[in-house]
Amino acid sequence: MEIRLEEPKDAEAIRRITKAAFASIEHSSQTEAEIIDALRSAGALTISLVATEEADVIGHIAFSPVMIEGEHLGWYGLGPVSVAPDHQKKGIGALLIREGLSRLAKAGAKGCVVLGEPDYYKRFGFENDPGLVLEGVPAEYFMRLVLDGSAPSGRVDYHQGFNAS
Ligand SMILES: CC(C)(COP(=O)(O)OP(=O)(O)OC[C@H]1O[C@@H](n2cnc3c(N)ncnc32)[C@H](O)[C@@H]1OP(=O)(O)O)[C@@H](O)C(=O)NCCC(=O)NCCS
Repeated sequence: MEIRLEEPKDAEAIRRITKAAFASIEHSSQTEAEIIDALRSAGALTISLVATEEADVIGHIAFSPVMIEGEHLGWYGLGPVSVAPDHQKKGIGALLIREGLSRLAKAGAKGCVVLGEPDYYKRFGFENDPGLVLEGVPAEYFMRLVLDGSAPSGRVDYHQGFNAS
């Protein structure tokens, strides 16, 4: 298994595994593949990594800039992240997350937010922060990880690519 940056030839496979991974997720908008395409088109896929086995893409993770109180402060949003259903629970998601966070930190990012299952993301150091708010979601599912400096506070907005459908 290898983790590397996405290449243009990976776009279709990323779409396919993203749709397959989210198909059974109750809280999914089922638009995650379109979101990744919209982020890519907007030049907002700051980091896009694939996990490959032989030539097959079996996992993917995206990071894109977020705004805090309307400003870009060097913070990014993790997601969507997907592992092909027949490859889940083998640690591939964790490797993608750790590699992505490490690359973000090396690129000078100040921090990262994620909307997801607390039991999963807390193992990577994500924490709830009442000062950092994503409107419209239960607070316990929205978490942040400081990479450099201190945590800002305020309203968080994901890139407009997340409105894709
Ligand atoms: C979430 C996902 C990327 C994790 O990838 P993965 O390779 O299966 O995960 P890992 O092997 O690294 O980790 C597996 C562990 O995480 C747990 N886990 C995975 N998804 C979880 C979830 N949604 N909530 C809580 N725990 C979860 C597993 O139970 C397992 O726990 P264990 O280590 O205690 O046995 C993958 O399951 C997936 O594609 N899910 C569908 C899409 C999705 O929900 N994406 C995230 C949206 S925020």
